[in-house]
Amino acid sequence: METRIEMPRYMERFGALKIYDVQRVLELTGGVSSDHKRGLLGIVNVGRGEIEELESKMSIIVPVKNENPKILEGVLSGIPHEAFLIIVSNSERQVADNYRIEMDMIFQFHNLTGRPFVMVHQRDPAWSNALIEAGYPHLLGEDGLVRNGKGEGMVLGLLLAKAIGREYVGFVDSDNYIPGAVNEYVDIYATGFYMSNSPYTMVRIKWPYKTKFVGKRFYFRRRGRVSEVTNRFMNLLLARLTGFESDIIKTSNAGDHAMTMALAERIGYSGGFSIEPYELIYMLEEYAGLKKPRFEEVMKHAIEVYQVEPRNPHIHEERGDEHIPEMLKASLATIYYSRLADEELRRRIYEELVARRAVRPGEILPEPRRYPPIRGVEAKKIIDVMKDLSESFVMVE
Ligand code: GDD
Repeated sequence: METRIEMPRYMERFGALKIYDVQRVLELTGGVSSDHKRGLLGIVNVGRGEIEELESKMSIIVPVKNENPKILEGVLSGIPHEAFLIIVSNSERQVADNYRIEMDMIFQFHNLTGRPFVMVHQRDPAWSNALIEAGYPHLLGEDGLVRNGKGEGMVLGLLLAKAIGREYVGFVDSDNYIPGAVNEYVDIYATGFYMSNSPYTMVRIKWPYKTKFVGKRFYFRRRGRVSEVTNRFMNLLLARLTGFESDIIKTSNAGDHAMTMALAERIGYSGGFSIEPYELIYMLEEYAGLKKPRFEEVMKHAIEVYQVEPRNPHIHEERGDEHIPEMLKASLATIYYSRLADEELRRRIYEELVARRAVRPGEILPEPRRYPPIRGVEAKKIIDVMKDLSESFVMVE
């Protein structure tokens, strides 16, 4: 049994950064009778054994904020057995202790499946000591706690993944209704790592459709509202670099994505919902050959960025339209404040945000909160401190 996926047909290169055009999954399981070898007919076949081998070297981080525990349980059930689970929750604890409910569910899941996991609450006061001790206090706010935000939760997850020491790390959103989709995403991560020859690799999922139930039937919308706009401006930024317009970037807001740990340690991050586009911005600023990068070893290799379209539709919790302008603002701010953007691009971004009522005319666009690479952080100390001091931290190996 194999996963069959299109070979990347087209690639654009910016210094050390190679961004591949979207590849589609052709068959979820390619079958044993297949005699297509790697690369033949423009197709990559990856055997089940190879996928499982790669997944056994992977940690999967699941950021959670007040999701329905049943949906979260479905997400966990979709993450292939070999991958190590890291759950970082920022769920409500005051009125109802949602975190406790999540914990009970995860313990039950562990008892039934034997899955090892780490779980922690984002706002646990013990993080303060742990992060200071490890040399990464940047996530702490003025109240001494880790700041709220999806990006902040994801960076905590990365620090735990670094401590656990697996070679690959991926993210899976916890509001995905379809366990089979989650399962496919992680197989795709493995397929990307299989295809790559570089120690610095990223695989980003391009949702084929955002699926909504309208009236009596499903409606498959091809583009996400935030991602369509972010991709457009991200590609305009690329045009500023090369003088050629491009549409290569199609996954600016991909929450579901994975990296080699070697790459994850050598890029910067940002807070809230700006983290996914900012990863791309950071790689462009640092590794497109425009300056001497902090980690020069990366320039000797390429950074391979794959964008893959799965077969399963994306059906997730619909939160209404209110948070769309906020997400758009956070996303576009990463481009607006990039040193690669010129005045003209900034003006166009600002006008777009005003037209979409994401900012009021004259309002200053908030700058993304940036966090430095985690390379050099003494991540193992985090586990020691959390084991000692934390009330929410659980690690079952
Ligand atoms: N730990 C943690 N902390 N998790 C969070 C937080 C937080 O403060 N805020 C949100 N999450 C989790 C949610 O539980 C969910 O699993 C995931 O992050 C995505 O958040 P949603 O609020 O459901 O956003 P969405 O699905 O509409 O967001 C999409 O667009 C975003 C912006 O581009 C996804 O693609 C996101 O991954 C993407 O960041």
